[in-house]
Amino acid sequence: MTNLAGPVLGLETSCDETAAAVVQSGVVLAHRVASQVPIHQRFGGVVPEVAARNHLLTVLPTLQAVLSDAQLTPQQLSGIATTNRPGLIGALLVGVQTAKALAWAWQKPLIGVDHIHAHVWASFLRPPTETATQWPVPRLPFAALAVSGGHTSLYAVHGADRFELLGRSLDDAAGEAFDKLAKLLGLPYPGGPNVELAAARGDATRFRLPRGMLGRDDGAYSFSGLKTAARLALEALPPDLGEAERQQATDDLCATFQGAVVEQLVRVSLASAERHGLRDLVLAGGVAANSALRQGLAEACHRKRMRFWPVPPAYCTDNGAMVAGLGEALLRLGLHDDPRSLDALATGEVRRLAAAQL
Ligand code: KG4
Ligand code: ZN
Repeated sequence: MTNLAGPVLGLETSCDETAAAVVQSGVVLAHRVASQVPIHQRFGGVVPEVAARNHLLTVLPTLQAVLSDAQLTPQQLSGIATTNRPGLIGALLVGVQTAKALAWAWQKPLIGVDHIHAHVWASFLRPPTETATQWPVPRLPFAALAVSGGHTSLYAVHGADRFELLGRSLDDAAGEAFDKLAKLLGLPYPGGPNVELAAARGDATRFRLPRGMLGRDDGAYSFSGLKTAARLALEALPPDLGEAERQQATDDLCATFQGAVVEQLVRVSLASAERHGLRDLVLAGGVAANSALRQGLAEACHRKRMRFWPVPPAYCTDNGAMVAGLGEALLRLGLHDDPRSLDALATGEVRRLAAAQL
């Protein structure tokens, strides 16, 4: 009989990071990320087959390393969680099949986890030095803005198994918009952090870019018009600009672009949260590492007297702790999957959307 209070192992292979972690009662006992960023950098973006093949190489050493860091044997685990949706299908299959084999060999419950929901649940991860009773956590139901390379979604979260979609991007995800701008400007992959660095040196008032979704109040986001406007602004620069002037123009465009993305995310998210009577806002996903976004939302929440819960920067980009954390919460609700039938799904959102509408 498995002890449900024991640690949960989490595996994450949905994109370009092979990550594993062990979490117990929300405390991260160990976590490791084998990053593929240097491998994909020379292609200017993630190559799905290359990602899947590298997961195959790194998944077992990564999970062996976390068990060894946490000084745990497989028998001490209470379950194995893996991201099974959404993501790159070949990449997902590696994590799902590894977790299935381990669950079968070690006779442990298997929990398939939605990657975006896991990003949000990272807001419950707790430092080992804090006790569960004293550590503040968001109050259910709360609003959660998940901003990553593939998604920009706002949820009303009612529980680990109940995510209600309130709004999402009609076109590009926020992270995708950052990555596309970076590519346009010749900045290295992944674009987001490099745009943020350039923006810190830039003047956000030099260019005029559309704010996006002004005048709409239905919780929808849009970033593709902004990306096109940035391209047109770049093309309109005089061709004979010197090196230093071109560098300054790049920094200024990054600052303006970042400001426009932040303004839209703040305005739409807070209006939706208010409309649904939600007083807590979680910020999660890779783009949540952006300090201008964290600051913009912190200030806006303060003005509206809402509580703001940004996920700690270490757990914003893809990691195994968020998967283990949500897996643990689901397991405690008695929810786990049949290892024979758990599938990998490139788009997990569709099923969740349908479920939320029931
Ligand atoms: O959640 P994540 O690690 O992977 C996905 O699930 O997609 O998010 C990656 C995305 C990339 O688009 C990356 O450029 C963006 O998050 N990102 C950032 C920052 N750090 C990562 N965007 C803006 N500012 C950052 N500091
Ligand atoms: Zn992610």
